[in-house]
This record gives sequence, C-alpha cells and structure tokens, in this order.
Amino acid sequence: MKIVFATNNSHKLSEIRSILGDRFEVLSLSDIGCHADIPETANTLEGNAIQKARYVVEHFGYDCFADDTGLEVAALRGEPGVHSARYAEGTDHDSEANMRKLLQRLEGKEDRNAQFRTVICLARKDDDADYSLFEGTVKGRIAEEKKGTEGFGYDPIFVPEGHDQSFAQLGLDIKNSISHRARAVEKLARFLKR
Ligand code: IMP
Repeated sequence: MKIVFATNNSHKLSEIRSILGDRFEVLSLSDIGCHADIPETANTLEGNAIQKARYVVEHFGYDCFADDTGLEVAALRGEPGVHSARYAEGTDHDSEANMRKLLQRLEGKEDRNAQFRTVICLARKDDDADYSLFEGTVKGRIAEEKKGTEGFGYDPIFVPEGHDQSFAQLGLDIKNSISHRARAVEKLARFLKR
C-alpha cells in the first residue's frame, strides 16, 4: 500500500520506513513530484499537521500523513510550541538562536519543566473530510546550558525525565526509544497495521 509522508527529511523517512515495514511503500514529497512550500499557517500543531496532510490528498490524490512538533515549556505557558522552528525573531530553523532565546527567557526561573509534543495527522484520499490524529510526548526539563553534540534542534538543552543528560548527550539510540516522534509514529503504525 502506497502512502505519502509529507516530508523530505531523510532521517524521518528512514525512521518511519523501518517501523512500518514492507507492507507500506512510504513515499516522500519529492517522490510524488511535490515541490511546493506547503502552507503551515495554523496556530496549533494539530492544525498544521492537518493542513499538510490534506494538501497532499487534495492536490496529489494519495493517502498521506504529516507531522508537526513543538517544545512546550511550562513556565512560558507552552512557548515556543508551534513556533519552535522560528522562535528567535527573523530566523528559520536557527537552533543556536532559538536555544539562546529560550535560555534567556528562563533565566532566574525555577520551574524548568517542558515537553516535546509531536502530532501526526493521517488523511485518506477516499474520505477527504475525515482524518485521524496521533500524539506522542516526552516530558523533561530545560537544562541551564547546552550539552552534547548529537541530534538537532533543542536536543542540547532538553533533559528527558529519568535521565540526567540531554538528548544530545544520550545519543540517537536512546532518544529514538523514548522520543515524542517515535511514540507518535508507533501509534500511527499500530493504526495502519490493524
Ligand atoms: P518539525 O515539526 O519536526 O519540523 O519540528 C519543528 C521544530 O521543533 C524543529 O525545527 C526543531 O527546532 C524542534 N524539534 C522538533 N523535533 C525535535 C527533536 O527531536 N529534538 C529537538 N528539537 C526538535
């Protein structure tokens, strides 16, 4: 069964292909000739995931799933959340600037609780009014300073619950066994394999 994952991120694609196995042929956006900048204008993770998955169903006629992830910091009322990729003004995926801003905002605050949250939306070509949502979270806290070199994004400052090292120190094997994205993907896989 062919299904599109609305991404061109090779890391995410190989992760999902290994979880879904041979029954599904997971196609990327470039595999289906989609080179558009798909709109992500919602103000929630759910809204963006739905927008992306439906765009592919409507314009390309494939079953599709799409993900959106945010880091939600309790003391900042859920910031940066849906704005995680562009948290530092005037930037796009500038992890260093994003982490700098977050650490500044948390200066002097005792509550450093946070969670990563991934939402996946699955939309079907036979039923374009309907969709399913799958959520994965990992709780943790924001460290005082960056540590570690692996991973990406906010990994150097996020310490998952039950550990005393950041995702960037723990490395990919441990991260992938407990991460927000892995948990959401597992739920999607269970649903698709039913
Ligand atoms: P996306 O929805 O997967 O593109 O994620 C949006 C933003 O959230 C990314 O640009 C990163 O800044 C951040 N992010 C998402 N997943 C992770 C992760 O696993 N570790 C660290 N940062 C992440």
